Amino acid sequence: MLQVGLIGCGEIGRLRAEALARIGSFRLVALSDLDAGRAAVVAAGHGAAVDRDWRALVGRATVDVVIVATPPSLHAEMCVEALLSGKHVLCEKPLARTPGECRRILEAQERSGRFLGTGFNYRFFPSIQKARALLDGGRIGELDHIRSYAGYSAADHRQPWLHDAEITGGGTLRDNGIHLIDLTRHFLGEVEEVKGFTSDRVWGFSGCEDNGFALLKSPTGRIAALQASWTEWKGYRFLVEIYGTRGCIRAWCFPMLTEVVWAREAWGRPRRRLHLFPMTHIGERLRSYRWVVTRSFIQELQALARAIRGEPTALATGRDGLQAVAIAHAISHSSASSQPTTVHAAGD
Ligand SMILES: NC(=O)c1ccc[n+]([C@@H]2O[C@H](COP(=O)([O-])OP(=O)(O)OC[C@H]3O[C@@H](n4cnc5c(N)ncnc54)[C@H](O)[C@@H]3O)[C@@H](O)[C@H]2O)c1
Repeated sequence: MLQVGLIGCGEIGRLRAEALARIGSFRLVALSDLDAGRAAVVAAGHGAAVDRDWRALVGRATVDVVIVATPPSLHAEMCVEALLSGKHVLCEKPLARTPGECRRILEAQERSGRFLGTGFNYRFFPSIQKARALLDGGRIGELDHIRSYAGYSAADHRQPWLHDAEITGGGTLRDNGIHLIDLTRHFLGEVEEVKGFTSDRVWGFSGCEDNGFALLKSPTGRIAALQASWTEWKGYRFLVEIYGTRGCIRAWCFPMLTEVVWAREAWGRPRRRLHLFPMTHIGERLRSYRWVVTRSFIQELQALARAIRGEPTALATGRDGLQAVAIAHAISHSSASSQPTTVHAAGD
């Protein structure tokens, strides 16, 4: 049984606590939030102790794993201290605001020898898992390129910090876009070079793009195109399209669907199949998207338990968190400089 300390009891922290309560191998023992009311509500629901100061939680001898679910400007400090206190850490996305902050966290992880995971829970959505299985099973041949889009409206921001660049490090690319960047790497592998454009004419949030567009290239020359947006005027759209040498896979989230189009042989007649996920549709309809997110958190935590035992999992590591932030950073750099940018050369 792994004993967990949770820092941050807002939108996501509450769902993390619900997910923990549904898995026998974890127990939420302590939590911390600046907002005493929020902390008290989650603590009462889960029988956990409250630490007013997150440093006290991190210092508890009984805590094995710390989950960081606070705004991104706090991630580096909290993750470093938790790791150096000997805790395994699962940190919400984005791992931190800049590649430099992410590197500080990874250095602490190396020193501590503990496991560091990044909360890229989209990897655990049924449509994405299905896409992964179809691709790995060779259904569409060899992967050729990827196209993806994530959009919702900044008018739906519940927390004003979401469009404060001091807190987040940037706009839509580091918010919903960071999931696209991670999934691109999840399917394509490493990204070496980017060409990007960002625009900020609609909302006018200082330092935060409303839209980010990018072409990403892998070391083997495979291309991915993505757009992250805060100007999808109604609802939430999320789609990843994976093209291969004999077909393509489309994975939507909300609603959860995976479509595959494939030909058995070169020049053959293509077939089409839609994979539905009835349990997810019912859960989403009856209990809202939060139910779907909580299920992905449950699977992510189960993967965390395996990763801590040293087993291979789909869970995003700290390095995956760093690479995603470095790619977002390179896209911003490419847009500002009007130059293609290699990811490792974009600076901190
Ligand atoms: N995985 C996803 O799909 C997803 C979705 C939304 C948000 N997130 C990420 O989750 C994290 C939290 O987002 P949220 O929507 O829950 O935000 P939120 O504002 O609802 O919650 C953050 C909580 O952190 C608390 N907090 C702030 N400073 C603190 C401190 N010093 N000590 C203790 N608590 C402190 C706040 O009081 C608040 O309750 C962010 O990194 C965000 O990017 C992830």
